[in-house]
Amino acid sequence: MPKVRFIDQNIEVEVPIGTSLLDAARKIDAPEGSACGGVCACSTCHVYVQEGASLLSDAEEEEEDILDKAFDVQMTSRLGCQARLQRDGVVALRITKESLDAFYNEHPDHARPASG
Ligand code: FES
Repeated sequence: MPKVRFIDQNIEVEVPIGTSLLDAARKIDAPEGSACGGVCACSTCHVYVQEGASLLSDAEEEEEDILDKAFDVQMTSRLGCQARLQRDGVVALRITKESLDAFYNEHPDHARPASG
């Protein structure tokens, strides 16, 4: 099964092909925001894919449109709720500050690490 590694949290999860990066994060409680609930209507699930980008589904127009409004967009930017694992391998990513902020706002019960 493909693996998703959350670099800054130093955690990794195996997920079936077809899983979105956001669902992978949810599976292990990685602090990725999802203000719209994963329907491509915010940008709080914004991540930087550092390795394994070719294992993911291509970005569609809706995702590009939303990313246009996100903060600090880079070549490696993807929306976690839209990028799905299509092949076996390892995807390593960093959760953006925008996404971390959203997650901790949405989950006040989760203590934010001092570094994050
Ligand atoms: Fe809102 Fe991904 S959770 S666009």
